[in-house]
Amino acid sequence: MTGLYIHVPICISRCRYCDFYKLTPNEWDNVDLFIQGLEIELKRLPRDFAPETVFIGGGTPTALEPEKIETMYAAIARTVDLTNVVEFSSEANPGTLTPEKLAIMKAGGVNRVSIGVQSFNDKALRLLGRIHKADQAIEGYHMLREAGFDNVNIDLIQSIPGMSPEDILSDARIVAELGPEHLSYYNLIYEPGTPMTHDRDSGRILPPSDDEEADNYFAVKALLEGVGYDHYEISNFSRDGKKCMHNMLYWQGGEYFGCGPSAHSHWNGARFGNVRDLQGYCDRLQRGSNPFDEIERLSPEDKAREILVMWMRLLEGVCELGFHALTEFRMEELCGPSIEEMIEEGLLQRTDGHLRLTRDALFISNAVFTELV
Ligand SMILES: C[S@@+](CC[C@H](N)C(=O)[O-])C[C@H]1O[C@@H](n2cnc3c(N)ncnc32)[C@H](O)[C@@H]1O
Ligand code: SF4
Repeated sequence: MTGLYIHVPICISRCRYCDFYKLTPNEWDNVDLFIQGLEIELKRLPRDFAPETVFIGGGTPTALEPEKIETMYAAIARTVDLTNVVEFSSEANPGTLTPEKLAIMKAGGVNRVSIGVQSFNDKALRLLGRIHKADQAIEGYHMLREAGFDNVNIDLIQSIPGMSPEDILSDARIVAELGPEHLSYYNLIYEPGTPMTHDRDSGRILPPSDDEEADNYFAVKALLEGVGYDHYEISNFSRDGKKCMHNMLYWQGGEYFGCGPSAHSHWNGARFGNVRDLQGYCDRLQRGSNPFDEIERLSPEDKAREILVMWMRLLEGVCELGFHALTEFRMEELCGPSIEEMIEEGLLQRTDGHLRLTRDALFISNAVFTELV
């Protein structure tokens, strides 16, 4: 399996916690130049590249005007062999959705939409600096269904300061009522330099304690599993088998190209990172240069360790045979003593040819991963 990620670096405004590379319309209004650059970059991909998954993220792909969205999908269709695509996702912000944009996305091949909700609590949305309220997120979700999307992901954020356990369960109940095929539920990351991190460091907001976070995490897990969701990755739930195939590829060591400013690729054992500068990205491509400025080649052993910890994020665990087939390493060769120790401590378990995190380890997985790399 191979994948294609496209980074659309535009947002209506900056959320207070987010460090993804993006510009706002007052900082950049030359979307045509971005799409031209993207098309040049896509044309430079190997001729035989025909991904099974495509993921348009950002930034906010739906922040573009309808005609620009149409131009971007036309550029993708002209340059990428889409014949093998089984999952074609786009991210969407509820404050930017219209039926017209969704119809264009659908016509462009999108069959899965991921909507950034973060919380259904208006106070939490204000704290995060979101452009929409909870009602708009719910309207946006219904708009996706009316547009015919039968594979929808909702993004929520865990551990938003000021939310009580009841507020958190209320968010999970709304998800259960809406019934998206997928939920991503990542912990709030305090990225250096963001207003949210400044608020925390200056004491204006107080993050929940580790114990509170863990209680909330397991309460949400129980509620969602109770209504049929499969908790298949530390921070992800799906129903009806609709796991995110694009992310499965990342977690299981698959190869992909990332296009657009700041996007990363992993191809032929090497990693490339595109410049985190929209004008610089466009300039480089217009003059026929590479848009990337980092190339890293991991040793086969380092690569295998990296795949091990990514794959271990899946609750079914790492298939021992599959891991060996992919990396040519056995897990025991890489970190046998640590694995045995953590099995003793009840953090890992070995069943059915898989090595997996135990329930106790789910909330402290980073500590486990540190022992494995
Ligand atoms: C590119 S955004 C999704 C689409 C759109 N830009 C939006 O926000 O609605 C991808 C997701 O990353 C998550 N995210 C971004 N920064 C984060 C942070 N610091 N901590 C946790 N999640 C974050 C948010 O949940 C967001 O929905
Ligand atoms: S969370 Fe989404 S909308 Fe907010 S700044 Fe980040 S990419 Fe843009």
